[in-house]
Amino acid sequence: MSSDGPTITSLELEDRRFPPPPEFAAQANATQELYEQAAGDPEAFWLARTKELLTWESEPTQGVDRSNPPFFTWFADGTLNASVQCLDRHLAARGDQVAFHWEGEPADEREAVTYRDLHERVCRLTNGLRERGVGKSDRVAIYLGMIPEIVVAMLACARIGAPHTVIFGGFSPDSVRDRVLDCGVTAMITGDGAWRGGKLVPLKANVDAALEGAPDVHTCVVVRRTGNEIGWVEGRDVWYHELVERQATEAEPEIVDAEHPLYILYTSGSTGKPKGILHTTGGYLTGVAATHRWVFDLKDDDVYWCAADVGWVTGHSYIAYGPLANGATSVLYEGAPGTPDKDRWWEIIARYKVSILYCAPTAIRTFMKWGVEYPQRHDLTSLRLLGSVGEPINPEAWIWYRENIGGGRCPVVDTWWQTETGAIMISPLPGVTTLKPGSATRPLPGITADVVDANGQSVPLGAGGYLVLDEPWPSMLRTLYGDDDRFVATYWSEYEGKYLAGDGCRRDEDGDYWLLGRIDDVMNVSGHRLSTIEIESALVDHPKVAEAAVVGRTDETTGQAIAAFVTLKGHIAGDEALIAELRQHVATKIGAIARPKSIVLTDDLPKTRSGKIMRRLLRDISENRHLGDVTTLANEDVVADIANQAEAARAADKE
Ligand code: WT7
Repeated sequence: MSSDGPTITSLELEDRRFPPPPEFAAQANATQELYEQAAGDPEAFWLARTKELLTWESEPTQGVDRSNPPFFTWFADGTLNASVQCLDRHLAARGDQVAFHWEGEPADEREAVTYRDLHERVCRLTNGLRERGVGKSDRVAIYLGMIPEIVVAMLACARIGAPHTVIFGGFSPDSVRDRVLDCGVTAMITGDGAWRGGKLVPLKANVDAALEGAPDVHTCVVVRRTGNEIGWVEGRDVWYHELVERQATEAEPEIVDAEHPLYILYTSGSTGKPKGILHTTGGYLTGVAATHRWVFDLKDDDVYWCAADVGWVTGHSYIAYGPLANGATSVLYEGAPGTPDKDRWWEIIARYKVSILYCAPTAIRTFMKWGVEYPQRHDLTSLRLLGSVGEPINPEAWIWYRENIGGGRCPVVDTWWQTETGAIMISPLPGVTTLKPGSATRPLPGITADVVDANGQSVPLGAGGYLVLDEPWPSMLRTLYGDDDRFVATYWSEYEGKYLAGDGCRRDEDGDYWLLGRIDDVMNVSGHRLSTIEIESALVDHPKVAEAAVVGRTDETTGQAIAAFVTLKGHIAGDEALIAELRQHVATKIGAIARPKSIVLTDDLPKTRSGKIMRRLLRDISENRHLGDVTTLANEDVVADIANQAEAARAADKE
C-alpha cells in the first residue's frame, strides 16, 4: 500500500440497535468486567485465563515473550498435550456425554460419539500411526469428509505431537500435492470417498493422483466410508479399520512445550503459493477455549452446531479444538444443506434441539433465497444464540437470520477473525454488547485492534482505513511454515509493530467496527479466501489460453463471485463450449469452489504502461461502475470492448 493509495470510504446508514435481552445478560458467561480485567494488564489476564481454561502438565509462569518480534511466543515455559485438553481431562465427569451427534448425508446414518468413545478411537489411531513410524517430528496430512474420523485423526496427531495439515476435501489432486510437498508430509489419512450433495467425492483417487508426485509419503491410512472401488498401493496404503482394530485402547500422550506446532493450515495469499499458517499448542488452545466460552456463552446443557467444514480454520477452532477443550456437545453434519431437501439444517436443529448455531453469511443468503417455508417446517425454539463468520454480513441477511431462524429472540454474534488469528478477535459478547446488524462491534477482552491510514496513523471515529491488531495475542499464527521472510513481509512490514489483517474497516462514532472486505488481490467466495493469481494460473495452464485476469465481483449469494477475463492464443476462436471447458478446467485444477462464475474472452487485457494487469479496472467493469481515469492505460480501447462483453455475461447470469 503506498501513501497515495485508496482511502476507504463507506456509506453505512444502518441504525437498528439490539441490546442484549435481560434474561440472556443475567446468565451470560462473559460480563462487562472481562474488558476491564483485561485492559489493565492483558498479559496477566491471559496467563490467568490459560490456567483456568486448560489443564497444563506443567503450568506456565510467563505470558508473552517479546524478545524477538514479530516471532512472539506465549506461555513458553508450560507443557501440555492438546488431545488431553480435549479428551482425557473430561473423562471422569463427561465420559458418557455426547461429544458429537454425527449425522451422515444419506438419510438414517447417525451416531452419537461420547467423550469416552472419542478418547478410545483417538488412542487406537495414535497407536496405529505410531506402529507406522509416525512421531513428533513428522507432519501428517488429513483429507477426509465430515465424518467423526476427521476429528479423531486431528486429535491422534496432536496426541503424538505430529503437526497435522488438514486439506479441505473439495480440493483437487494438484492442490493436495502442493500442500503435501510444501509441508513435507510423510503420512496421510484419507477415505475411499465422501458424500456431498448426493455425489461421491473420490478422495482416494485424488490422493493417488496427488501422491504420484510425493514419494516421501510412506503411509496412507484409508477410512472406508462410501464403499466404492479404489486403487491400492501395496506397502503404502492401509485400511483404517484394520489398523485400529489391533491396537490398545489407551495411548500415552506426548507432552509437548506450549510452543510445539499443533497444525499447519494452508490459506490463499496474494501470490500464487498458498501460505502454510502455523499454529502452536498452548496459546492457540487458550484462544479458542476462551472465545468459544465467551462468544457462544457455552453451558453444560447446550447443543452447539458449527456448520463449517473441518477443512477450514472455522472447523479447526470451533468444531474441533474449542468445543472439545470446553467439553461441549456438538453436531457434526456430513453433507450439503440442500440434501435431500432444502430444510435439512432445520430438521437437524429440531432433532438434536440445537441451541447455538454458527454459520456463514453465504449460507444465510442461500436460505433467504430458498424461502422461509423451509425453516418454518420445523421447531427451531431450542435455539438461543446465532453466530456468523467468514465475510461481512449484510444487514438484511442479519435481520432475516435473527427473525426467521432465531425467532427474534436470539442474539446474533458477527465474529471477525482469520486463519491467521486462530480465534475470534472482534465480536459482540452476547450478554453485554448492543448489536448493530452488519457490525462485528468490538475487539474481545484481551485483544487490541486499530484502524489506521496509509501512514499507520489511527483514523478518527467515523472514518475508514486498514484494520491492524496492535498487540500480540495467544492464538496468533507463529509464522508461515518454512517461510519466515514471507511471514514478516506479509503481516508485519507495513506498519512497525502492528499486524496487518488485510481488511478494510470503518469505526463508527461509538467505536464499533464495520468490516469492509479485503484490500489485496484476494476474493472472498462463500466465506473462503481465494487468491486471484491461483485461478489465473489455472486458466493459463489450459493449452488454448494466453493470458488471464481474475477479479471478484459482488454476488448476492456467495459474497463475491469469480469473474475471469481471458485472452486466447494465436487465432483460436472462442465460443460457449470453450468457456464451459475453461470453467471446468479451473474446477479440475483447484477444486469446484474456484470455478469462475463468468468468463469473458477478450483480445487484450487492460494494462498499465509497465505491463501490470489493471485488476481494479476489471473489477469496476465487473461491478458495472463508472470507470474513472483510464489514461494511464497502455491499451485504452480494449476497455469498451471488455465492458460490453462483461455486461452480456452479467445479463446471462441473471437469467
Ligand atoms: C477473512 C479471513 C475466520 C474464519 C473463516 C474465514 C473475512 C471473516 C468476517 C466477519 C467481515 C470477515 C475477512 C478476513 N471475514 N469473518 N465477521 N466480517 N469479514 O477465514 O479464510 O482466513 O478468511 O474473512 O476478510 O480477513 P479466512
